[in-house]
Order: sequence, then structure tokens, then C-alpha cells
Amino acid sequence: MRFGVLTGGGDCPGLNAAVRAVVFRAARAGHETVGFLDGWKGVRDGLTRPLRSEDLLEAISRGGTVLGSSRTNPFAKPEDAERALATLDRLGIDVLIAIGGDDTLSAARELHRRGRRVVGVPKTMDNDVGGTDWTFGFDSAATVAVDAVARLRDTAASHHRVVLLEVMGRHAGWVALATGLAAAADATLLPEEPYDEPRLLARVRAAVAQRGYALVVVSEGIDLGSPTGSAAAHDEFGHELLRERGVGSSLARRIESATGFEARSAQIGHIQRGGPPTLFDRILATRLGAGAVDLALAGRFGEVAVLRGEEVLGVPLDEALRETKRVPPSWRDLLHTFEPG
Ligand code: F6P
Repeated sequence: MRFGVLTGGGDCPGLNAAVRAVVFRAARAGHETVGFLDGWKGVRDGLTRPLRSEDLLEAISRGGTVLGSSRTNPFAKPEDAERALATLDRLGIDVLIAIGGDDTLSAARELHRRGRRVVGVPKTMDNDVGGTDWTFGFDSAATVAVDAVARLRDTAASHHRVVLLEVMGRHAGWVALATGLAAAADATLLPEEPYDEPRLLARVRAAVAQRGYALVVVSEGIDLGSPTGSAAAHDEFGHELLRERGVGSSLARRIESATGFEARSAQIGHIQRGGPPTLFDRILATRLGAGAVDLALAGRFGEVAVLRGEEVLGVPLDEALRETKRVPPSWRDLLHTFEPG
């Protein structure tokens, strides 16, 4: 068979490990793999590069994606969809492995509905794809954010300030949860919970009373009631660019005026998405990439390779895309156990 592979959506550590696993696993079964450049754009425009095992020996430890990525939606216009289908025919692609988050996987599902052989691999630093316990990219991104909080702690303590770190993660609070929990923040604000200003101020005051400073982690997706909608910038899949709202800096101003404590905020942004993948992400990406090839070899098209407990298995794309996976109450309860006030 001739495999095609693409990486779509926001990049994250572990993509190269997954591409490498696809190429090695396919090669071991006697199949070749072609890489599409820049996500679905490469399929639409016929942009490819050959992928050989020997070129990917060390790819497991490299951040970003050797294939490039984009947020191109190949089904945004009928003519784009025609071009994408024609590319697959012209290049003789028997099965396409689409590595991405919910947008990339929805395009994969559409391709499957149009009769093409597709298998998905879930990735995203947001950890919000359904059907899988974890997505790769998340562990690496949260690890970077935990390190950032440790650095902010030094400066917050020196200046007796309230310091906020705004992390990415879209409308799911997984990155904020893991960061707040692992870095022992005094308060962590998630999009899954309504904004509660009195509770936040109580935690900040209690932390400052205890040791003279406070650390707050805030997810970019929380709703402070600021205006959004048509005026806000959106990507090609219609998602608002949340970091433009600057919830961290708005909160710093609110805290400063309500408490009189000096407050500062930092936005970690894309720093979270770069750098080498953690051990967990290298192994997960490798298992899911290889798992996707195994699904294809078993004829299980239209499925996604996912992690459930200790096992990698296949679930239908529909199941993985049914709903955004958000932080459930049990995790939130654990998080707040450690917060003062
Ligand atoms: O989905 C991954 C993610 O990093 C989100 O956490 C964030 O909101 C978004 O991508 C940023 O997108 P872009 O890289 O297009 O600015």
C-alpha cells in the first residue's frame, strides 16, 4: 500500500515521533509513506515530500513537525475538496493517516464519508479530543507551563506581588488544571467553571497573608464577560483566537484595584508548544502512530487510534469527535483542595 501522512492544526511536541512511527511501522510491513506538507493544504495543493525511515531516526526527540502544519480546511469550498480528492487519486494514496486535533479529524471524517480510506491520530496540547484518555502534546505543554510558574514564583516572592500566568488550552481547562496542580498555584481558573471574583480575591488575600505573594494560573478560555463574537479574530475553522482577549492582564488589573496588591501577568502562549516532547509524549505519539498503521492494515478505516487505560485501540472518528473533552468535577475538586482561602 501507499500511505500518506499529514500533521494539521496547531503544532505540538510529539508530532515528529508520530510521523516517525507511521513511517517505520508501514515500512516494516513493506509499505511506503508519502508526507503531505502543511496539513490539509498539502493534500489540497498536492505538496508532498518522500518519507524514509533513515531520515527520521532522531525525529522522536524533535519538537514541531517536519511536515509543517496549517489550519487549512480542505472542505471549506467545494473546489478545494475536489482538488484534495484529485491529489489523493493522482498520487495513488491508498490510505491517509491524519494526525491532528478535532478540526483535522473532522476533515478526515469528511474524507472518509466521501469514500476514502483514512485513519486518525489524535494530538493536541489542549487534551480536549474525546475518546482518548490523553493526547500527546499536552504533557509537554503543561511541563513547560509548570516550569514557567516556578520562575514566576521567584519574582512574585521577591516583589511581594500577585502574578498571573495565562496558559493556552482553548475551551478546555486541562493545561491550566495540570499547571495549577503541579506548580501549586494559589488559584487556578478554568473555562469549565463560572468566573467567581469573590472566591478568587479570597484566595489571593489568603496567599498574600500567608507568605506575601500569590500565584494564579488562568486558562485563556475563561469567560470574564468581555465582548467577543464577530469583531474577534477567528481561524479558518471558525475558532476565536482566544489569546487576543488577554484575560490574564484583565484579571491582573481587577485584582490590583480590588485588593491594592501590585499585580502582573504573563502570557506563555506559543512557548508552550515548542521544544522537545517529554518522555510521556514520545511514547504516546509513537504508540498511536504505530497503532494507526495497524488499524489501516486491519482494514479499520474511519477510525482513530486512541489510548484507553494501558491499551491503544481504535474508535470510530464519530466517537472521537462527538464532544470536546472538558475537565470533569472530580479533577476540579482535587485542584481546589490545595488552594488557600
Ligand atoms: O489548539 C492548540 C492551541 O495552542 C490552543 O491552545 C490555542 O488557543 C490555539 O492553538 C492557538 O492557535 P494559533 O497557533 O493558530 O495561534
